Amino acid sequence: MIAIFGAGTMGAGIAALALGHGVPVTLVDLDRATVDDAATRVRGHLRHGALLGSFPDVAPGGLTTATDPSAAAGAELVIEAIVEDAHAKAELLAGLCGIVAPGTPLVSNTSGIPIDELARAVTDPADLVGVHFMNPTWLIGTAEVVRGDRTGRPALDAVLALLERLGRKAVVVRDAPGFVTSRLLHPMINDAARVVQEGTATAEQVDELMRGCLGHPTGPLLTGDLIGLDNLADALRALADRTGIASHAPCELLLAKVAAGHLGRKSGQGFHDYRKVLS
Ligand code: NAI
Repeated sequence: MIAIFGAGTMGAGIAALALGHGVPVTLVDLDRATVDDAATRVRGHLRHGALLGSFPDVAPGGLTTATDPSAAAGAELVIEAIVEDAHAKAELLAGLCGIVAPGTPLVSNTSGIPIDELARAVTDPADLVGVHFMNPTWLIGTAEVVRGDRTGRPALDAVLALLERLGRKAVVVRDAPGFVTSRLLHPMINDAARVVQEGTATAEQVDELMRGCLGHPTGPLLTGDLIGLDNLADALRALADRTGIASHAPCELLLAKVAAGHLGRKSGQGFHDYRKVLS
């Protein structure tokens, strides 16, 4: 059994990926309503992935949900996919060290908080590895694996073995703010939003040009909507703070969307409107 903390977009997606490859999961969040809702979403992801042939071996009855962190005791590996907040992640990881057996690999799905920074919170930094799963987890075949300066070989090997079992290709990179993918993708989405903010083009035009001329699979603003604009703004703030590059801070239009509750696909509206598609 693996334990996953945070039953939001990514926690539910990682749970479906694991269950779809025969790995039982305990999914933990703060309250019962959230984990119940997540269990429904996980079942939906499993149906979608099965239709697409992404899941070779669904673990029947393999999902347990919990609101008490002690449900992670006995896990062979723990993945945290909670909010992109360094303090919240550090607090959770520190608490987990008192719950799981010493040496249990601890994985953070952070989009860009340096693993060495989170490692300060854990009893043995050798146990901590970054794995940046992407959304939707069952469609993206590659995971960015982040090896902190103090990440140990046993934890890294356990993570690579799990990713192989989940049919994901692992690319192991060194630790840095935003790693590789967020360092490149998030500023691009921020700049795409600035193009809209400055009135150069609409969101539809930006995405159409990026798809049609430059081969981007979805267009950057649709990708931002899929990530969640609140999450993206948090990640951009963290990137700006940690790199010292002020232009990485979220642009005004992005902040206005978040303030209006237009968080992207999960809220029905973001740079694009999903209300008809989702109703
Ligand atoms: P989300 O906002 O959808 O879900 C976060 C969940 O964590 C919420 O349900 C919240 O109640 C829960 N939570 C907060 N504190 C908790 C705690 N102490 N214990 C248990 N649960 C707790 O966020 P999302 O989008 O799933 O992101 C999660 C992580 O994955 C973040 O670090 C994010 O940067 C990263 N990520 C997100 C991607 C995306 O496309 N959304 C892609 C790759 C990484």
